[in-house]
Amino acid sequence: MKILVLTSGGDAPGMNQTIYQLKKSFKDDLYASLEGFKGLINGKIVKVPDCRKEKNKSGSIIFSSRCPEFATREGFSKALENAKKFDYIIVLGGNGSYKGCKELNENGVKTVFIPSTIDNDVDISEYSQGFDSAVSACEFYIKNSMPSMQAFNRCAIFEVMGRKCDKIAKETFLRVKGDYLIANEENLEYDKISRLILDNHKQHRASSIILRENIVKIEEFKSKLSKLCPEVEIKTIIIGYIQRGIGPTKKELKISKQFARYAIWAIKAGREGTAIVVQNNKVTAI
Ligand code: F6P
Repeated sequence: MKILVLTSGGDAPGMNQTIYQLKKSFKDDLYASLEGFKGLINGKIVKVPDCRKEKNKSGSIIFSSRCPEFATREGFSKALENAKKFDYIIVLGGNGSYKGCKELNENGVKTVFIPSTIDNDVDISEYSQGFDSAVSACEFYIKNSMPSMQAFNRCAIFEVMGRKCDKIAKETFLRVKGDYLIANEENLEYDKISRLILDNHKQHRASSIILRENIVKIEEFKSKLSKLCPEVEIKTIIIGYIQRGIGPTKKELKISKQFARYAIWAIKAGREGTAIVVQNNKVTAI
């Protein structure tokens, strides 16, 4: 049996652990399409290397990419031609990658999908691997910055990832018990935010604002707030790629192994067009 695995879109902590588990089970039968769907299009396909050393590290040992070419007729047909050389294709990625995987399946390829994105935006699963680690990076960063903000009675705006999705912002806000959350555009209530910052400032309390990326430019946001609260020093912090690069949490590693176990089971049982998901808090195959 020839099995191909690929990681697509933003890499997610836990991906390497899943790949390691797949490799342990399928050994030399496991191949990788390098850089996600791109490798399927240009034929960059190799045997998955021994990845014991990388299993608890983040990133993707088989590389990832965003691949608009896959959505073109020409790109897709090249990808399909290479995909058909394998008995199974395992796709690790987010919502966009899930759609790509489904399309391969609808065109006769046996597929298994594993939700893997820090955004946690795969509709069919309650959880995507990477999310807990990304939020824990934000939590660590913010909790360890606020004592310094407090010493100077400042206000800090922390920008977290989530280009199309507000889940990282919402979960981070809860975990750090932030002062104000801007998860969506309607949360941009400047009067309300400035009143809160000023009230805190009077009591010598630093304010923390959690801002989801892609809502407003952080410097523009700061400059508007600064005009409304001139006496408060406002700092901007973009948390950035530590959210994807941080090592997987314990919870993440547990789920990455479970995802792999279910994928292996699905393939050995001859299931196809399968997605490994979390439903009612449990990993399952649908
Ligand atoms: O992986 C998802 C994500 O982290 C988004 O939240 C973020 O906007 C985006 O990827 C950034 O991706 P890139 O590195 O391709 O700019």
